[in-house]
Amino acid sequence: MADDEIQPQIVTEATGSKTERIEEVAKIASVCTACDLSKTRTRVVFGEGNPEAPLMLIGEGPGQNEDATGRPFVGRSGVLLDECLRENGITRKHVYLCNVVRCRACVFEGGRLKNRPPTPTESEACSQWLNQTIEIVKPKVILCLGAPSASAIIHKGFKMTKERGQWFESKFAKYAMAAWHPAYILRLEGEAYEAARRALVEDIAAARQKVIEAKKEPEMTLF
Ligand code: URA
Repeated sequence: MADDEIQPQIVTEATGSKTERIEEVAKIASVCTACDLSKTRTRVVFGEGNPEAPLMLIGEGPGQNEDATGRPFVGRSGVLLDECLRENGITRKHVYLCNVVRCRACVFEGGRLKNRPPTPTESEACSQWLNQTIEIVKPKVILCLGAPSASAIIHKGFKMTKERGQWFESKFAKYAMAAWHPAYILRLEGEAYEAARRALVEDIAAARQKVIEAKKEPEMTLF
């Protein structure tokens, strides 16, 4: 990838760099008790990558591997996501990666903890961290991974089958789009798997292209 494409712009604000501000918020979030997920989590998975990056990827929430390590997308989904990013010449240092909820949602079933989707109450409690993350990073483009993320960022009741791959303007970023969640792709087989994987690679390519275009637009500031 050419250096002037998706490379982060280093912006230092009066109150500290984006990296410093994210670290500050992540430290506060690391002891969050705003919902009951705090009782079962091992670690808060705040996010990772480059807070100066123009592209933000947002998943649903951490699973077992993320809960154990404190890092987003480190299980099989993460391996697939990294592959699809790499096919576009992108690594985690070119993006900021986080989730709608920052603690693992799980249920005790059959003698073990199993991942489950977060409840609306848990997502609402966690929205303070999502809002602050976006407010600091100020991504030009957001790529939502899966319906829960798209419902939080683009509009409620987002329908992946109908609306995936389309650009929307959101209050969080001028350009937002949803792509298949890697965990969904991993549940498919054969041609369905190949098609969904290809779609994720293409949606990342579209997001990368949108960043290039957005960087050419004049900044809309009052002063
Ligand atoms: N799935 C997600 O949505 N996020 C992660 O961090 C890992 C798996």
